[in-house]
Amino acid sequence: MTMEFKPFTFRSPRIVFKRSSWKDITKICEEFGKKGLLITGNTVKTKSGAFPEIMNEFTSKGVAVAEIIREGKEPTTREVDAIASTIKKDGYDWILGIGGGSTLDLAKAASGLARNEGSSADYQGGKDLVRDGVPFIAVPTTAGTGSEITNNAVLINEEKRLKLSIRGDKMMARVAVFDPVLTRSMPPQVTAYTGLDALTQAIEAYVSKASNPMADLLAERAIEAIWGSLFNAFRNGNDLNAREQMLYGSLLSALAFSNAKLGAVHGFAHPIGVLHAIPHGLICGVLLPHVMRFNLAGNIHDVTRKYGWIGRKMIGKSGRESLSDVELANMAINSIFDLLESMRLPTRLAGLGLKADDFPAILDETKGSSLQNNPRDTSRELLEKILKDAL
Ligand SMILES: [Fe+2]
Repeated sequence: MTMEFKPFTFRSPRIVFKRSSWKDITKICEEFGKKGLLITGNTVKTKSGAFPEIMNEFTSKGVAVAEIIREGKEPTTREVDAIASTIKKDGYDWILGIGGGSTLDLAKAASGLARNEGSSADYQGGKDLVRDGVPFIAVPTTAGTGSEITNNAVLINEEKRLKLSIRGDKMMARVAVFDPVLTRSMPPQVTAYTGLDALTQAIEAYVSKASNPMADLLAERAIEAIWGSLFNAFRNGNDLNAREQMLYGSLLSALAFSNAKLGAVHGFAHPIGVLHAIPHGLICGVLLPHVMRFNLAGNIHDVTRKYGWIGRKMIGKSGRESLSDVELANMAINSIFDLLESMRLPTRLAGLGLKADDFPAILDETKGSSLQNNPRDTSRELLEKILKDAL
């Protein structure tokens, strides 16, 4: 019997993963020219000890760097358009983004738009970026969103009151610099939220309809790395080994989902995030075990087997070899509920302040590619059932 081998294309920026690699940032930026723009968050600028040193090094190398310092809120199409026109006007050789997913999405979209026509909202409708963006160097300070790896940016469209993606390889980072030292300043809550996002992304990519053999490998290693370190990183932010494993797991998760797509958790997460202003990773973490339960009930061989694999990793080996994949899959789901509780987070949508009355509006906006790649097919009725069961 010949096995069908799923064909795939794999995309990724250049990756630098090293403790204290913040010291290499100026050299990397200089490869692209002598005039750059730094986009970062207020918290990164004020809290990171690395920040003044990086700026001093740029000055001593004769590299001119303008700064945009912003609050860590989620970016809007208007904000991107304003920064893109500044980049067009002032002509920067490169854009350096240092921060969490919001800052990196903003910097990525602005660097892409700066070399293309029109406004960012035009590209949310599926219009393609024609020209390569201004070279973008991405430095994550959280371990979870994956923006430094992906070819999309999620932007709030205020007119439509929706979170929509701009997508295109032409705006993907040229270099992604991973330094666990920079993630140490993340408070426990942000560690939990972003870590749950990374875990969700890895699990959704693993069972996605668009999964492929190479992405599966990455998803498996991502799940192991995140599962083994998230609670420790949450409990003790200075545990550099846990921070490093989380950042590594987040990198692998991002490589997996940017090549294998996501599922129903992310299908729900964007409309819920816009309508109720709840942090993305928290929504993902709460919905993940409920969506897994729904997918498992679909009785799809590959999903049961993969969830079973996850369960085995989560509970460890100790005498559980005889358990079936379904039993192991249920253990994976219960282990995720336990993790949420151990981080003092809600396990149900009511705990996020949602009510059944909120569901119609959420369901109206739950659509898009994440749903299409969910391993079990959905309908409005089934999606409503997931939400009700999760309430
Ligand atoms: Fe996510």
